Amino acid sequence: MKICRSIAEMRAQMAAFRNADHSVGLVTTMGALHAGHMALVKSAVQAHSRVVATIFVNPTQFGDPSDLDNYPRTEEADLTMLRDAGVAAVFIPDAGDMYPDGDETIVETTGLANMLHGLVRPGHFRGVATVVTKLFNIVQADAAYFGEKDFQQLAVIRRLVRDLHMPIQIVGVPTVREADGLAMSSRNVRLTAPDRAAAIVLNQALSRAEMLAAEGAQVDILNQAIRDTITAEPRATLMAVDIVIADTFEPATGPVTQTIGIMISAQFGAGDNQVLLIDQREIHP
Ligand code: PAF
Repeated sequence: MKICRSIAEMRAQMAAFRNADHSVGLVTTMGALHAGHMALVKSAVQAHSRVVATIFVNPTQFGDPSDLDNYPRTEEADLTMLRDAGVAAVFIPDAGDMYPDGDETIVETTGLANMLHGLVRPGHFRGVATVVTKLFNIVQADAAYFGEKDFQQLAVIRRLVRDLHMPIQIVGVPTVREADGLAMSSRNVRLTAPDRAAAIVLNQALSRAEMLAAEGAQVDILNQAIRDTITAEPRATLMAVDIVIADTFEPATGPVTQTIGIMISAQFGAGDNQVLLIDQREIHP
């Protein structure tokens, strides 16, 4: 597995893959890899003759500097996992290379970035769209793989690829969960033991909503059930519940007659131990 720490090295490696007629899949990450990332890698490895992964903790998508400082960094372990999974090259750039002095260009999906979870984390999706555009331009893969857990992020990326006519296919991969239902996330390791136990409330709330939808309940009933379930857990502070029509991201109302996306976020812990978790579920009529 080739490790590229500069843009020039990554471009040279991609040129070699292209000269050998390889199809290239891309998995962008911020490291601290877990089974959720490895599901993306597995999908990419199945579909392409070469897979490139990126590891870059992107400063522009963090609002709170302490969240950026506390973000787990586990490069050695990440590289072992990527090598074992059959990744051909890893791009690990410096922040100074990704954002050169005088950098002033940003990419923003102006509607999607500034609604729902974008309001809870102002500037977050602008940072994601900007760095993903840079990574797509540097690597120039055929397809890129993203987790469905980050439902709004996936929608933002699909929208920017469509709007900017980027020649790359975006593939969504279903959320991977721990045995007790907690969605895999690099942030989970920062939960204290009691908060880790309490965090399953997110999946429980989504399952309750799914059950109610199957019984024919309307969207406002699902919304209330999610709120009630999360607020009943004293260790969780509910941040947002958004229920949208999956295709358009317009607010869903009334009975579930088309596929809806439910996105929830809650904060666990306090002070330096504060961790924001998100989860998501698509529900079909
Ligand atoms: O989902 C992530 O890990 C990040 O938001 C991404 C897409 C790698 C951009 O930094």
